[in-house]
Amino acid sequence: MIDDVEHILISEQEIQQRVQELAGQIEADYAGKDLLMVGLLKGAVTFMVDLARAMDRPVAVDFMAVSSYGASTESSGVVRFLKDLDESIEGKHVLVIEDIVDSGLTLQYILEILRQRKPASLRVCVLLDKKERRQVDIPMHYVGFTVPDAFVVGYGLDFDQIYRNLPFVGVLKPEIYESTLPDASSSAEAG
Ligand code: IMP
Repeated sequence: MIDDVEHILISEQEIQQRVQELAGQIEADYAGKDLLMVGLLKGAVTFMVDLARAMDRPVAVDFMAVSSYGASTESSGVVRFLKDLDESIEGKHVLVIEDIVDSGLTLQYILEILRQRKPASLRVCVLLDKKERRQVDIPMHYVGFTVPDAFVVGYGLDFDQIYRNLPFVGVLKPEIYESTLPDASSSAEAG
């Protein structure tokens, strides 16, 4: 599996250090308030679990899953719901946890839907920000790392559902995804 990675972009140690820092910041910001972490399946799971465990306070968790249509290394902005939240978020302090923001189209869609459900507050915590590729302005309150425009895998992020269990974030060799790109009519799970 590691042979498919061109180079390591963010090491396991750097990720764990940053997760601790973000957890401390979130704990301070939500002091005295209930906190509901909403993870976007499946990519955010690793990050969300580590983040929640780094906090010395009660947190509630819920998950949602959407799929984005188009070739699996590009987001089309057309989003379909695969799994909704189990609980109502009305009146709750919601922190959305995402693995990576690329164009921003997936998160924009999800935030709009969540906003309509009247949470007490709605914030975003993202592990990776692929800033150069942004097409829409997304308010991101907590960002782990800014990454360059390259296809990355590991620490929850996949290509074709694999590589999520790598403990670091690495750049995938282009020949891996160039040789296996599905046709543009297929759909890929976002997150
Ligand atoms: P966006 O809608 O363009 O912001 O795309 C967000 C989704 O695309 C993420 O939740 C990921 O599922 C996927 N994605 C974008 N860039 C990468 C990447 O470099 N590696 C793995 N998945 C990615």
